[in-house]
Amino acid sequence: MSKSTTTVDHSSQDVLEPEARPVPEGRVARLQHGETWRSIFRHPHLDTPRGRALQSFSNVFLHIYPVKVPSRVLKLRYSWRLGYIASVLFAVLLVTGIYLMFFYTPSVTAAYGDMQQLRTGVGFGQLIRNVHRWSAHLMVLVVVLHLVRVFYAGAYKRPRQFNWVLGVSLLLITLGFSFTGYLLPWDQLSYWAVTVGTNLISYVPVLGKQLSDLLIGGEQIGQATLLRFYSLHVAVLPVALGLLLMVHIWRVRKDGFAVKRGEVGSFAEGSTDRLVVTSSGAEPATEDGQRVRLLGVVDRESVTAEERLTDDTVFTWPHMLVRHVVVGLGTVATVLALGVLFAAPLRGIANPNETPEPAKAPWYFVGLQELLSRFDPLVAGIFVPTALVLVLVFLPYIDRNSATEARNRKVAITIFSIVLAAVIVLTVIGALFRGPGWQFITPWDHNYLEL
Ligand code: HEM
Repeated sequence: MSKSTTTVDHSSQDVLEPEARPVPEGRVARLQHGETWRSIFRHPHLDTPRGRALQSFSNVFLHIYPVKVPSRVLKLRYSWRLGYIASVLFAVLLVTGIYLMFFYTPSVTAAYGDMQQLRTGVGFGQLIRNVHRWSAHLMVLVVVLHLVRVFYAGAYKRPRQFNWVLGVSLLLITLGFSFTGYLLPWDQLSYWAVTVGTNLISYVPVLGKQLSDLLIGGEQIGQATLLRFYSLHVAVLPVALGLLLMVHIWRVRKDGFAVKRGEVGSFAEGSTDRLVVTSSGAEPATEDGQRVRLLGVVDRESVTAEERLTDDTVFTWPHMLVRHVVVGLGTVATVLALGVLFAAPLRGIANPNETPEPAKAPWYFVGLQELLSRFDPLVAGIFVPTALVLVLVFLPYIDRNSATEARNRKVAITIFSIVLAAVIVLTVIGALFRGPGWQFITPWDHNYLEL
């Protein structure tokens, strides 16, 4: 027998758990136990505690997840999977966005024509554009809902204060993404929505003009603006969001999931990967109460198989993963269905000399526009949003109350709920109840909201 054959035989045998190896039966099983398969997947498929741990350890993608998670994390109520859905939407936006980049030129003479061309001259062009647009709208909505969920759960408290700060940055980047993308079709809707939005910047005391020039690159929106927005949209913001998101998700894991763990104490601190895997599963701590870190999967003879301490954790693979696959596919199916049913709008080509009535900002800024119509621009356009963002960023350091239960956080919850209700009411009025001349209208008579 040649040397290489000996190697094959050895690798297809699990020396650590020989009895757990199923006898290969059928073509698929034989393929899975063959050398080629094993050269791609570094371990055999074992449905044992150790095998499940290995699934996470030895796969670069699954490695993001902890090996085990508290079983309560599996419940939909824990997070409503909103952060995860936002991540999936970001992935959809990247894929569809890259496709669109092949057919788009960031030039005022070509951009609008490229958008028209998507309808007729590009395979699945219109559908991909629709899906991209719907995913973008949904992402803004889902990220805001995620923030609201994190607030009401009190999940921004120690030790997650900084992850909240990262989260607010992610929200701002998401808004930046949507806003810069809005201009790219170069039609009347995008041109005037961005004009209304960027006008706000000129109200900033002292630096207003400089900031506005920096963003717009001139007196009014034109070629320089389109190129700047495009560069921000396809290069700067994706890199910024991607990097921050990695840290954000890493912190979720390292800070321990904000989920009540009964005997381990409420919102247990510390990482869930501080476990030791024994042949019978994973232990959260040693008997003397010390935390231990899992550094690898070891031969079961080298650890003592002991009585399990209270352990409410389950293996990520397959329990968590299966849920993520279902929610991920559901999210993709939703944006696909929206893309098939509702086409992204494309009005006439951008015309700086013809202001449409009403000229509305994108829906997530329309609450601000409504506020501006009622108060002094400096107050409504600058002070209120700046104060809102600053309070949001520093919230975990302002709210020093360590309680997470709603009954012990009445003041914070009341203030947050009032502000949230005000934002919703202003947005709904601005989006649906305002018509030409910013006059009050009833949406069932005429709808001036375009998404
Ligand atoms: C691009 C936007 C964002 C993405 C993709 C994202 C992603 C995630 C994911 C995947 C989780 C794990 C739990 C879950 O699925 O919900 C999470 C948790 C968390 N997020 Fe976000 N997030 C974003 C924005 C935000 C914002 C705006 C905030 C708040 C200001 C925030 C604060 C937090 C905190 C504190 C946790 C930990 C909560 C826990 O452990 O239960 N995130 N995020």
